[in-house]
Amino acid sequence: MAELGDRLHIQTLLARANTPQNSDDADVVIQGLTQIPKTLPARFFYDDAGSQLFEQICDLPEYYLTRTETAILKDCAEAIAKLTGSLELVELGSGSSTKTRILLDAYAHQNLTLRYIPIDVSAGILKETAQSLLQDYATLKILGLVGTYQQALQQLGPSTLPSRMIAFIGSSLGNLPPAECHEFLGQIAAALQPGDYFLLGIDLQPSVYKSKAVLEAAYDDAQGITAAFNLNMLRHLNRKFDGDFDLNQFEHVAFYNQERHQIEMHLRSCRAQTVHLKSIGLTVDLAEDETIHTEISRKFDLDAIQAELRSHQLETVHIQTDPEHRFAVVLSQIQEH
Ligand code: TRP
Repeated sequence: MAELGDRLHIQTLLARANTPQNSDDADVVIQGLTQIPKTLPARFFYDDAGSQLFEQICDLPEYYLTRTETAILKDCAEAIAKLTGSLELVELGSGSSTKTRILLDAYAHQNLTLRYIPIDVSAGILKETAQSLLQDYATLKILGLVGTYQQALQQLGPSTLPSRMIAFIGSSLGNLPPAECHEFLGQIAAALQPGDYFLLGIDLQPSVYKSKAVLEAAYDDAQGITAAFNLNMLRHLNRKFDGDFDLNQFEHVAFYNQERHQIEMHLRSCRAQTVHLKSIGLTVDLAEDETIHTEISRKFDLDAIQAELRSHQLETVHIQTDPEHRFAVVLSQIQEH
């Protein structure tokens, strides 16, 4: 175990004042539930039950995203490793690092040195995953960072290897609205030196290959796992704020908004009702059919995303989709600022 310890460091990042991520949870909930339309921030999906449901979503037959991205990565990992050479791999939202293993395999196969910096808000999953990776990759060194993307990007030191690649896969970029997405990509670019890489996985817009129905089914599966995941947010709030949301009186709604190119997830109130969150003194009236907006998942156009990346000096060096053009992996490299 001492041997493992030398190769593993876990660090908890510091919260910074005055960033929206750190504004008080209570304030965000009060603000979201007293405005029209009502909203709740997606981060309340992820308590332990929520994280487990999310893992189940990734395995659903309807949820093609994970499977498709995995297949693309398997196809291009060797090419990516050859292109970049040895590096520090920073992964935003690493979770169980399942897809990342494909990259780790490719770098190991080519005898390239890799330092892995997984970043996740959950210390538990980070530690567990790191330990299992160390067992499987004999020379891998890991620095796990517990914190949000923003904290990590701000507090990441200079790379200790010739180059760095920041990986942001799973189409998580799509969960940010356009303005936030732009700002976030700016923060990524700021954490890179000229010549460094950014690896991005994104879900694509409906096309002749991918119907709107396929897209919508991915967010409203037959077994109701995505519905349970969405509704679990209310259970989480009940526990956190001594609330009385009745989960039987809300319904999961997911649809593709064609103008905005995004899946939207809502919780619809089945009847007129009043809900209390006692510990923060909040009383909320909901009309029948009123919705609480919980998540967006934007779908991308390949030309538009490359233009967006270019606006941050990130030039595409490798791009790959699956044969049905459902999903894309884009490797870009940052030019001189
Ligand atoms: N980023 C992925 C997506 O948009 C995963 C995800 C985030 C998700 N929030 C979700 C999947 C809510 C289902 C429901 O698909």
